[in-house]
Amino acid sequence: MNIVLQLKIALRKVLSDQIVDNLKKTLGKIGPQKKKREIDTLYRLLFNAVQDPENSLDIGSNQTVETFKHQWTELADGQFMLSDTWFKENIGSILCDEMLLLKPEWFKGKSILDAGCGSGRWSYGLAQLGANMTCVDINEIAVNSTRDAIESFPVDKIFHLSPLEELDNVLGGEKFDMVFSYGVIHHCKSFNKAFDSVVSKVTDGGVLFLYLYGRESFSLDEDLELFKDRMYYNAITDQKERMVFLKQRAGNNPVCLNQLHDHFAPLINRRFEFEDIRSRLQEAGFGRIERTMDTTELYIRAFKGTDADAADVMLSKKGKPFWFNRYRVDIDD
Ligand SMILES: C[S@@+](CC[C@H](N)C(=O)[O-])C[C@H]1O[C@@H](n2cnc3c(N)ncnc32)[C@H](O)[C@@H]1O
Repeated sequence: MNIVLQLKIALRKVLSDQIVDNLKKTLGKIGPQKKKREIDTLYRLLFNAVQDPENSLDIGSNQTVETFKHQWTELADGQFMLSDTWFKENIGSILCDEMLLLKPEWFKGKSILDAGCGSGRWSYGLAQLGANMTCVDINEIAVNSTRDAIESFPVDKIFHLSPLEELDNVLGGEKFDMVFSYGVIHHCKSFNKAFDSVVSKVTDGGVLFLYLYGRESFSLDEDLELFKDRMYYNAITDQKERMVFLKQRAGNNPVCLNQLHDHFAPLINRRFEFEDIRSRLQEAGFGRIERTMDTTELYIRAFKGTDADAADVMLSKKGKPFWFNRYRVDIDD
């Protein structure tokens, strides 16, 4: 007989029915709290393992890559995508006047690497400005969409299917006048490897642009709650039910389903402090490291080398309303 059962029998002999009833009631009261603590601990452990900057769990990285495959197949259109005519018409000025703060004439003939090109919206804008484009993504559908998106521009175009962590395999020692990476590295299996690989591709005097999720937008506790929602969303096996989840959160605005999918589907979704990224970039030999847009997310432009003199091509910072404020839809519960 096991020790717990023996103890139960011994206790039952010395305790009155009333005491047993009282104990049951007390245990019933503390039970859910303890359960909650245990569940929260498991979520936190899983969150840390999935967001690990050096190497996310395979289960997290495979799932993240799959969610983007779904996004580019089923939800490629929407607000701020190339199907949005307002966005498509304004993409050049969004890039120059708000995100990069560089004059349009800087781009002509420059070599630009779009690291994690997605369906090609930013490659479209950069090619339209006259840059020669090299576009990389881990997802074949994304690379093919980007190829279609920039087909008509009379610039050089090269496409690679590759994880950013392994750019050297497809690019060798090639460097670029600009490396542009919007909303990608925080989703990569290894943030550290992808970051080092991407920043190493900027030529001396060249420009790096990164858009990363900022810790300022969500505290760690809020992020954990969001992670629970992501687990819930991913546990729904029926595609129709998943759409219901997203549509409920999209309110009356179905055009933002694409952004909501970005928010809830990929399990790897890291957030960063600007100061951490700034010191990493300084270590990698970048100077003039600035946030180009004053929002809680990180829009970062930096120049390779501390003496890069770009004053004659730089534009000054603009304030709100930014391009996305025009359509801002509240995605919180
Ligand atoms: C949020 S989307 C951003 C796409 C594009 N930059 C944009 O703003 O439209 C993230 C992209 O990162 C790609 N991705 C995820 N992990 C990657 C990795 N390890 N290496 C390269 N691309 C990756 C996905 O396939 C997806 O296209």
